[in-house]
Amino acid sequence: MAVVPKFESLLEGSGLEARLQMNDEDFKLLRDFIRAESGIHFGESSKPILEKRMSRLVRARRIRSYRDYYYFLRYDKRKDEEMDSVIDAVTTNETYFFREERQLKAFKDEILPELHAEKLSRGDRTLRIWSAGCSSGEEPYTLAMLIMESKLFNDWRVEIFGSDINRRVLQIARKGSYGNSSFRVTEKGYIDRYFKEDGGRRQISEDVKKLVNFSYMNLVDRPKINLLRTMDVIYCRNVIIYFELSTKKALIESLGERLAPGGFLMLGHSESLINITSSYELRHLKNDLVYQKPRKRRIF
Ligand SMILES: C[S@@+](CC[C@H](N)C(=O)[O-])C[C@H]1O[C@@H](n2cnc3c(N)ncnc32)[C@H](O)[C@@H]1O
Repeated sequence: MAVVPKFESLLEGSGLEARLQMNDEDFKLLRDFIRAESGIHFGESSKPILEKRMSRLVRARRIRSYRDYYYFLRYDKRKDEEMDSVIDAVTTNETYFFREERQLKAFKDEILPELHAEKLSRGDRTLRIWSAGCSSGEEPYTLAMLIMESKLFNDWRVEIFGSDINRRVLQIARKGSYGNSSFRVTEKGYIDRYFKEDGGRRQISEDVKKLVNFSYMNLVDRPKINLLRTMDVIYCRNVIIYFELSTKKALIESLGERLAPGGFLMLGHSESLINITSSYELRHLKNDLVYQKPRKRRIF
């Protein structure tokens, strides 16, 4: 059985802080723990990055070594709360409105009309979209604005679900108030129509906000993902780049299980399914290449 240090005694680490150093074993313990909890993988060459990100937390807790911090994360009664800080330190939450213009044009001008016609022919007037790894919400709100602009779904039930593992960014998403860096590529027309000025920031309008629901979800928690309803489109952009191959494969498979036949999987522009799966069809749309779950073959 592992010997669990008494953490209160670790809080008096005066003078030791300057000597805080992550040895290879500590790195492996913390790295494997973080990967098991979140899927996020730090390769051998990323040790300095992990060390830098962890050192702030270890010092803030006034814990004397990375090994003791590891035990703290595993066994202390405050471990869940601390894990939120770890997740905040190891996730990259960079995002902005209207990111990846061509793909969004394909969504608005090609995918939405196709889904509208196909679903209407079956008498189904619901549209369900999931932004998996939505960060502070700019992505799902962008999708909501594009759906509103398309005017195709005005009398439909539209549900956009944004999820993330980082509770801090989810709070920002729920609030819907954004500074300038979120608008680096946003056209003025969208700002005028869907935001109101709010003391140097911009607040997303209620019409957009009410289409989107945010929730904590860890994408390596497959049983939780399995509880979600079937989606027409899943956005999972700039998330799998932080995972190693086996985690990518498992996630892409569970996303596939949540997609309706004919549903679309949207990855980031630097991501692809090469070496991950051949179960999706690559659709050559006018504006972009996108992945689509085959309509007939049962693959997931
Ligand atoms: C770089 S942001 C991408 C945001 C948005 N999709 C975009 O492309 O602009 C990646 C997000 O994935 C989230 N993430 C990383 N690992 C996750 C996991 N295991 N479960 C859920 N979200 C995760 C991070 O917290 C972060 O907010």
